[in-house]
Amino acid sequence: MIEDELNVWCDDQIVGYLWRNEVGVMSFRYDDDWNRFPLSISLPIDKKPERLIAHRFFANLLPEGFARERLCRRLRCPDADFDLLREIGAECAGAISILPVEKAPDLQHAYRKIEEAELVKLIETRGASITVENKPRLSLAGAQDKITVHVDNDLIYLPVQQTPSTHILKFEVSDFKNVPLYEVFTTSLAQAVGLNTIDIELRVLASKSYTLSKRYDRRIKEGEVMRIHQEDFCQALGFKEKYQRGDEPNFAQCYHLIIEHSANPLEDAEQLLKWQLFNVIVGNSDAHIKNLSFLYDNNQTRLAPFYDLVSTRAIEHLDMTLALSVGSQNKPNQITEKSLIEMANQCRIRPRRLFDILNQLITAVEKQYQPTRSAIERQYGAQPALQRVERIIEKQIKLLGKF
Ligand SMILES: Nc1ncnc2c1ncn2[C@@H]1O[C@H](COP(=O)(O)OP(=O)(O)O)[C@@H](O)[C@H]1O
Ligand SMILES: [Mg+2]
Repeated sequence: MIEDELNVWCDDQIVGYLWRNEVGVMSFRYDDDWNRFPLSISLPIDKKPERLIAHRFFANLLPEGFARERLCRRLRCPDADFDLLREIGAECAGAISILPVEKAPDLQHAYRKIEEAELVKLIETRGASITVENKPRLSLAGAQDKITVHVDNDLIYLPVQQTPSTHILKFEVSDFKNVPLYEVFTTSLAQAVGLNTIDIELRVLASKSYTLSKRYDRRIKEGEVMRIHQEDFCQALGFKEKYQRGDEPNFAQCYHLIIEHSANPLEDAEQLLKWQLFNVIVGNSDAHIKNLSFLYDNNQTRLAPFYDLVSTRAIEHLDMTLALSVGSQNKPNQITEKSLIEMANQCRIRPRRLFDILNQLITAVEKQYQPTRSAIERQYGAQPALQRVERIIEKQIKLLGKF
């Protein structure tokens, strides 16, 4: 076994080679015959990657925080990017599979049904009870525990070995059990006011809730699941850090990235502006640059549907500081007209346009809040926890509605 090299595949084609040096820094080079698409805007095919950029791209595929710590313990894997990619890189966000050099991609797809008792156990253990033969080979970013699955006719399946998944199942967070409810509510409200979002459902089993979302980077073609490439904005911009600290990474960088690279910059930039303002209105302070992605479908670069939309301010004890400032303001309850003018200037758009989008959003949120809540309550019964979201929205609208 070659210890310090991994192959990067897309379907049955080799994309390139990943290796690490003695201090753990990873480097990447494309195979000479690879010409289908660059893995990232930050990794053009015809240029040698700048120092650390390749490392960041691949490290950005990995889980973060507690989810990563738990995974390392369970897999008895050193907490190092390269070791983790070797263990779990077979199924990532986007189209690539990262495999040890002695392994070729297995194009035979197979799924195993999860029986209800097994699902209950998975939910109770937040994924830790997955059996050894189904040892996870999936790597998705984010700090929340999740597994990737396949859903067909309302039955849930585990992909066997390298088989692609089609859905993401996100578990409750131990001390914050309303997170799945808040995510489904926030996403449904976003959809109702015109944001392009993922399809997500709330599920409840054995008095625990979880979300099930359809992967936008998978498509079923002639009965087979295909992987479609994507990358998040942390990867596309070549950053390690997803939260704004000081000046960077900032909202305007995301805006200009879209203007420069999207196949439909008008539509996608408008969506991005709405995303930032919607997050401020509903109290989603965790809208960072790893919660934005480009999807490379049919050789077209488009902003992916929005995911991980959660009114985080409704969750007690979480920091309300915005992941991306509005102008130079990172406190959502202190945004002023000046912050919005600054934001418009940084994006090089007319402030009037931004105020118009904001006012339309406020009207739409006011109109859609109750119907969205009622739809959820019809299905799952009364959800008094949503009161907390309503209070935040009311306060934010009071602040922002006067511009
Ligand atoms: N519906 C989806 N389709 C495809 N990829 C997704 C989808 N939802 C999330 N992802 C990918 O999975 C990663 C983690 O999901 P996310 O919901 O952001 O989890 P967390 O709450 O842990 O941050 C995202 O950064 C994105 O790359
Ligand atoms: Mg996330």
